[in-house]
Amino acid sequence: MTDEELETSLDQAARWLRVSKRVCVLTGAGVSAESGVPTFRASDGLWEGHRIEDVASPDGWNRNPTLVWNFYNARRANVKSVAPNSGHYALVEMEKRWGDRFCLVTQNVDGLHLDAGSVNVLEIHGSLRQTRCLGCGEVTNRGLDPLSDAPECPQCGDRLRPHIVWFGEGLDDVVWSAAMVAADECDALLVVGTSAVVHPAASLVPIARRKGATVIEINLTPTEASAYADVGLYGPSGVMLPKLLQRLAPV
Ligand code: APR
Repeated sequence: MTDEELETSLDQAARWLRVSKRVCVLTGAGVSAESGVPTFRASDGLWEGHRIEDVASPDGWNRNPTLVWNFYNARRANVKSVAPNSGHYALVEMEKRWGDRFCLVTQNVDGLHLDAGSVNVLEIHGSLRQTRCLGCGEVTNRGLDPLSDAPECPQCGDRLRPHIVWFGEGLDDVVWSAAMVAADECDALLVVGTSAVVHPAASLVPIARRKGATVIEINLTPTEASAYADVGLYGPSGVMLPKLLQRLAPV
């Protein structure tokens, strides 16, 4: 993409956003890459040297919960050492323009959108900061300090697991329904830093498109979502989102 093409695309995307009454954003690992959180598919399907099925699936958990907790404690430590980037902050500013007509749906479990100050956030794949009790089902915020490799529920004493949606598991009904409504009702959908290959998250893109929303993609490269995109802004989200924000006139 030449500089000139990028400028034209940014102007077009901003024009569409300015006339949108409702805006939905779908983010993935790419939005946190510039903060220093590794993306998933850039690492050959390995996470910190582990096979995905060993650390992010119900089978892996049943085989070796200690390994799974060690893995998630390492990911929690990574996130504790990083901070939101200019892409996260640009989305905070955009939310101020649309208020409760702006919904940020994220596949990320790092919580960096909330750290940055975004309010209407749906963490559809759960959160590294939360645990869920296998006995009473209680979901609790734990922050990012290390947990033991076999943490127990403070309420009922049963075992805790990470409150993360693993491969082969369904999404929380309430959270997913809210995400579908946001995609269904928006006039513009921003798709940022996701390879758009994991479903059902990726299906928010065709859902929005079918209802006539304008789809704006921000990524380093074209993805599975590109076929639905009206415009693509190809470059780092920490650069593209602030550039887009700059072009939106003050409220
Ligand atoms: N700016 C914009 N996009 C970027 C950047 C960046 N700085 N760096 C990387 N990307 C893009 C990559 O080009 C890629 O398309 O981010 C995307 C990251 O893709 P994935 O690693 O597949 O992450 P994601 O789409 O979030 O994965 C979805 O799969 O790993 C599971 O459940 C997990 O939520 C995750 C889901």
